[in-house]
Amino acid sequence: DGEVYKYYADGEWKKSASGKSVSIINPTTRTPQYKVQACTQEEVNKVMDAAKAAQKLWARTPLWKRAEFLHKAAAILKEHKNPIAECLVKEIAKPAKDAVTEVVRSGDLVSYTAEDGVRILGEGKLLVSDSFPGNERSKYCLSSKVPLGVVLAIPPFNYPVNLAVSKIAPALIAGNALVLKPPTQGAVAALHMIHCFHLAGFPKGLISCVTGKGSEIGDFLTMHPGVNCISFTGGDTGIAISKKAGMIPLQMELGGKDACIVLEDADLDLVAANIVKGGYSYSGQRCTAVKVVLIMESVADAVVEKVKAKMAKLSIGPPEENCDITPVVSESSANFIEGLVMDAKQKGATFCQEYRREGNLIWPLLLDHVRPDMRIAWEEPFGPVLPVIRIGSVEEGVHHCNASNFGLQGCVFTRDINKAMMISDAMETGTVQINSAPARGPDHFPFQGLKDSGIGSQGITNSINMMTKIKSTVINLP
Ligand code: G3H
Repeated sequence: DGEVYKYYADGEWKKSASGKSVSIINPTTRTPQYKVQACTQEEVNKVMDAAKAAQKLWARTPLWKRAEFLHKAAAILKEHKNPIAECLVKEIAKPAKDAVTEVVRSGDLVSYTAEDGVRILGEGKLLVSDSFPGNERSKYCLSSKVPLGVVLAIPPFNYPVNLAVSKIAPALIAGNALVLKPPTQGAVAALHMIHCFHLAGFPKGLISCVTGKGSEIGDFLTMHPGVNCISFTGGDTGIAISKKAGMIPLQMELGGKDACIVLEDADLDLVAANIVKGGYSYSGQRCTAVKVVLIMESVADAVVEKVKAKMAKLSIGPPEENCDITPVVSESSANFIEGLVMDAKQKGATFCQEYRREGNLIWPLLLDHVRPDMRIAWEEPFGPVLPVIRIGSVEEGVHHCNASNFGLQGCVFTRDINKAMMISDAMETGTVQINSAPARGPDHFPFQGLKDSGIGSQGITNSINMMTKIKSTVINLP
C-alpha cells in the first residue's frame, strides 16, 4: 500500500533521491499494482562507478568461483519461483503456469551458462608465427577471452525475468559487471529476481538494477560512457539505441513478423496445432510468435477450419485462472491491435470469429483472405490476432516473407525434406523451423534476427562470446 519498491545499487536496496515513483498498471484490472523508484541520472552515474570498480576485482575472481555464484543464484531463483511468478501475473498478465515456467527456465539458463562458461572461457589458443609467410618459428601468440567491462541489460516486458537472466548470466560468467534496466511492466518481478542474485552473495556493486522513466534515464543509460556493451530486447527503441550508442558491441533482438509457410503435403493437424500454439501463446506477445500464415490455396480451407476448431477451445480471461488468452500488456497496445483489425476489416479481410474486446482483453482472432495492402500483412500486432494470406506458389510465400523489414524466424510445414531445406535456404530470417512453430529455445540454440529484427546472435554460447573480447600476448624469442 503506497510502498515503492527500492532499486538495487552497491549491494543495497535504495530509495531514489528524486522522491518520485513510476506506477505499474495491472493489465487485467487496469489499476495501479506496484510502484518503483524513478531513479535519477546522478544515481545512474553512481551505479556505473560502482560497477566499474567491482568489475576489476570480479574479472580476477577465478572462473570456477564465478560459476559457483551463478549456480547458487540459479538455485535460489528456482526456490523463489512462486512469488516471482505472482508478480509476472500481476504486472504483465502472464498466465500463472507460464509465469512459473519462465522462472524455472531462467534458473536452468543461469546454471547452463555457468557450465558453458567454464568450458568456453577456460580455453584459449596458441598460434605459432611460422605458418605465415616470411616468419620464423620465433613468435608465440597466446590468446584468450577477456571481459568487456560493464554490460547494460535491457529486457522487454514479455519476459522480464528470462530475457534479463539471458543477459545477466553470460555477462557475469565472462567477468563483466552488470547494470539492469528492467521494463516498467515487469520491474517488480525483475527486482525480485535480482534479490536472488543478492542472496547468492555476489560482490557489492557488481550487479545493479535501476528503475525509472525511459524519458529520464533511458538515453542517459544507453549513451553513458561507462557502458561497454548493450544487450537489448524489445521494439523499435532498439534501432534508436543502435544509432546513439557509442563504439561498443551491441546485441539487439527487436521485432519479428515470423511467417508460417504451409505446403500442400503438410500434416495439417500438426500445422493447425502449431499455428494455434505459435500464434496465440501468451496472447501473441512473443517476438517469435507466428505473425503471418502463408498457406497454399488448395489446403487453406482445411487448415483454417482446423485452426478455428482449436481456437474455439482456448480459454479467455484472467491470468490468475491460467487462461490461454489474457489481457494484453497495456491499453495502448490493445488500441494498436484494434487499429490493425479495423484496417483489415475496412479492406475486406474475412473474420473467422467476431472481433471482441473488453478493456485490454482481446478475444483470439483469425483473419482470412488478408491481402498485402492491409497493415496486418506487414505489421506486428503483438496480440492474439493472426492474418492468413493464401498463396498460389511457394515462391509467393517466400517472397512475402522476404519482403518484410523483419527477419527473425520463420517456419515451413511439409513432409518433403528437400523442399523444406530449399525454402529454409531462401528465407531471409535468422532461423527457420521445419515442421514446428518458431521459438527461441532451447536457450543454448543460436538466436538471431536479420534486418530490423536485430544485431548479433544470442543463445547462451553466443552471448558469452559476445560479452568478451580476444586478448593476445605474444612471446617473442630472440
Ligand atoms: O519475445 C521474444 C522471445 O525471445 C521469444 O522467446 O520463443 O521462448 O517465446 P520464446
